[in-house]
Amino acid sequence: MKGLVLAGGTATRLFPLTIVTNKHLLPIYDRPMIYYPIATLAGMGIREVMVIVGGKSVGEVVELLADGEHFGLDLTYRYQRGALGIAHAIGLARDFVGDDSFCCVLGDNVLLGEPLAETAQQFADGPCGAGTLLYEVADPERFGVAELDAQGNVVAFEEKPAKPKSNLIPIGVYFLRPDAFDFVDRLEPSSRGELEITDLLNHYLPGHLFAPRFEGLWTDAGTVTSLIRAAELAEQESRAGRLSAPPIRPDR
Ligand code: G1P
Repeated sequence: MKGLVLAGGTATRLFPLTIVTNKHLLPIYDRPMIYYPIATLAGMGIREVMVIVGGKSVGEVVELLADGEHFGLDLTYRYQRGALGIAHAIGLARDFVGDDSFCCVLGDNVLLGEPLAETAQQFADGPCGAGTLLYEVADPERFGVAELDAQGNVVAFEEKPAKPKSNLIPIGVYFLRPDAFDFVDRLEPSSRGELEITDLLNHYLPGHLFAPRFEGLWTDAGTVTSLIRAAELAEQESRAGRLSAPPIRPDR
C-alpha cells in the first residue's frame, strides 16, 4: 500500500496562528502536527508516501520532513492550490498511486494508542472498495456524520449537518483503491466550493465500505480547542510511555 498525507488548506479556523505559518508545523506537545499523520502511516507498514502541501510556509514543511528517512519513509510531494477539498487533493495523487491501494490521512488528525497495521492489511486483502475509521464524538456537527441502519451499518455520510443523525464520524483516515480517481473526476463541488470526502465515500455506500471503529484516542487539531485537546492527549500518552520520541533529521 502507498500513503498520502494531506497538508494543504488555508487553516482560517486557526487565525492568527496560521496567518504566516503552515498549520501542520504548529506544535502538538513535543512535535510538529504533521508528525502524527506521518507516524500513523509508518505504523501501518507503509513506506512510499506522498505529502500534498499547500497554504503557507510550504518550503518549511518540506525542510522538516525532507526525504522522510528519519521516519523510515520515502517521501514525495505535490502542491495543492487553494482550498479545493480533500477529494480534490486525493485526485492529485493519481500518478503516484498507480495501481496500488492507498491510505490517505489528514495532516491535522492525531491518532494515538491503536496500531493500524492489521486494519490496513484487512482492507488491502478484503473485498471493500474503500474504507474509513469511525469514532464517536460529542460534537458531530463539526465533521462528516454517519447515518446508520437498524443493524448499525453505515448507509450514508453527511458533511457537517445541522442535525447530525448519529455521533459517529468518519475520522480523517481513508482507505482507497485506484478506482477512486474516476469517482473524484465526477464529483461536484459542495456549497462551500470543495470536493468533499464524504461525497466520495458515499459512492461505496451502502455495502462496499470498510468502516471499523477506531479503538484508540483520536482528535483533529484544526481549531484552537482541538489543538489544545490534541496536546493534552499526546502528553497523556507520552507520560504513560506509549509515545516514542519524535524523530529528528540525522543531519541536524
Ligand atoms: C474533514 C472531513 C470530515 C471528517 C474530518 C475529520 O473535515 O471533511 O468528513 O470527519 O475531516 O477530521 P474538516 O474538519 O477538515 O473540515
